[in-house]
Amino acid sequence: MDFMEVIYRRRSIRAYQSDPIAPEKIEQLLEAARQAPSWKNLQCWRFIVVSSQQKREAVAKAFSPTNPGAKALLEAPCIIVLCANPAESERWEEKDFFMLDAGLAMEHLILAATDLGLATCWQGLFREEKIREALGIPPQIRVIALTPLGYPNQERNPRPRKNLEDIAFREVWANPW
Ligand SMILES: Cc1cc2nc3c(=O)[nH]c(=O)nc-3n(C[C@H](O)[C@H](O)[C@H](O)COP(=O)(O)O)c2cc1C
Repeated sequence: MDFMEVIYRRRSIRAYQSDPIAPEKIEQLLEAARQAPSWKNLQCWRFIVVSSQQKREAVAKAFSPTNPGAKALLEAPCIIVLCANPAESERWEEKDFFMLDAGLAMEHLILAATDLGLATCWQGLFREEKIREALGIPPQIRVIALTPLGYPNQERNPRPRKNLEDIAFREVWANPW
């Protein structure tokens, strides 16, 4: 797929088929994540691939049923849990780079998934401690996000985006695009 087509095709998908994903595809996604840039190339990210029904149920319990993405965690055959070790990154002027490092790796994974015809939905609203307990994640490791991963069972129109002139400037802040 052309790169911009991948960008435009990616949607947050919240309905999934239960068909399994070939292990080599999952490895390809992890490889795409591994190639992301990171602070001092410290690569603070870690990924847990959760496929068993029992563990997916345990992960889903960390979500409020009102979260629109929660039910997808049980439909999709797989969940990718994004973790980070803050000790393998740094903080500068109140900015925690581990969040950026981890987010960049996840976006690599998500775009690679789109390219393979797989669907994802970034999930940020969950009880971190419950996921840590369910998956045996050590206390010093942060659980940043997760996504269901699988073949889509819905078509979604693109969600609206702000206009370029509202988000981009020429030379100085006062000069909209
Ligand atoms: C940091 C972050 C956290 C998010 N958390 C959730 C979530 O908890 N549940 C959910 O259903 N979607 C979540 N989303 C998905 C957004 O709602 C979605 O990306 C946005 O509405 C734009 O839609 P699109 O991804 O289809 O372009 C999250 C996205 C990001 C980037």
